[in-house]
Amino acid sequence: MELQSNSVNPVVAIDDLHKSYADHHVLKGISLRANEGEVVSLIGSSGSGKSTLLRCINLLEVPCSGSLRINGEEVRLKKDRAGTPMIADARQVARLRTRLSMVFQNFNLWPHRSVLENVIEAPVYVLGEDRKDAIAHAEHLLEKVGLVDKRDVFPSFLSGGQQQRVAIARALAMRPQVLLMDEPTSALDPELVGEVLRVIQGIAEEGRTMILVTHEMAFARDVSSKVMFLHQGLVAEEGTPEQVFLDPKSERCRQFVTAEDNRS
Ligand SMILES: Nc1ncnc2c1ncn2[C@@H]1O[C@H](COP(=O)(O)OP(=O)(O)OP(=O)(O)O)[C@@H](O)[C@H]1O
Ligand SMILES: [Mg+2]
Repeated sequence: MELQSNSVNPVVAIDDLHKSYADHHVLKGISLRANEGEVVSLIGSSGSGKSTLLRCINLLEVPCSGSLRINGEEVRLKKDRAGTPMIADARQVARLRTRLSMVFQNFNLWPHRSVLENVIEAPVYVLGEDRKDAIAHAEHLLEKVGLVDKRDVFPSFLSGGQQQRVAIARALAMRPQVLLMDEPTSALDPELVGEVLRVIQGIAEEGRTMILVTHEMAFARDVSSKVMFLHQGLVAEEGTPEQVFLDPKSERCRQFVTAEDNRS
């Protein structure tokens, strides 16, 4: 039965992934599965490698070794003569990248394009979607993030929370198989965090596969299927939110979770 097999098919599967910058070994053997419809949260202290891992998944960084599969398709890597890891097949990566959308901490909207133009840009120019269809889809997504009335304004007229909601609509406009988010609320004023978290929660509840880096512990607890605690480039703890937050096995994770809880 297709549905059954789909439900255990990882959209993202990583095995023993390593990444170094010169002699700085940042990721030291990470394995991760994000199954269809799951929300995987990555937590951990600054410098533990969370962003590097997301950037490897999005192929903005090339892993040094290990395997990365997107929807069952292995990303082909090679090494040049100096041993530097490289993408072996640029066309494959360009194709796989269209299946992943990333939401960044600082929104990264085009400043001289309206909200609507920001959302339709990639579907029209990267996917070759018909402009009319792209506009209809964009309006639907802007409705979902509560900003359809802002479709014709420029990003600088919006609050940070509104800009991030546009960035989320823009990411969804690519109809990605997995949504990657790197601290989507950490650049926001505290009073704007809630509106963005509510939008992300709504998307998660629709069954969107997500890999999310966050420092919002209560949110991670509510929204995640699985939580992974990274420490010095390794997964030091992983499990359900209950396991990781309420009954962590490692002392490091316990300390981290307690400290973050006290901070918020
Ligand atoms: N392009 C790069 N060149 C060299 N070192 C890098 C590069 N990117 C990241 N690093 C190093 O890799 C380590 C992990 O960085 P990363 O940004 O992945 O951490 P993080 O867990 O996302 O931290 P934060 O919570 O502060 O965002 C850090 O020591 C960082 O200095
Ligand atoms: Mg980071």
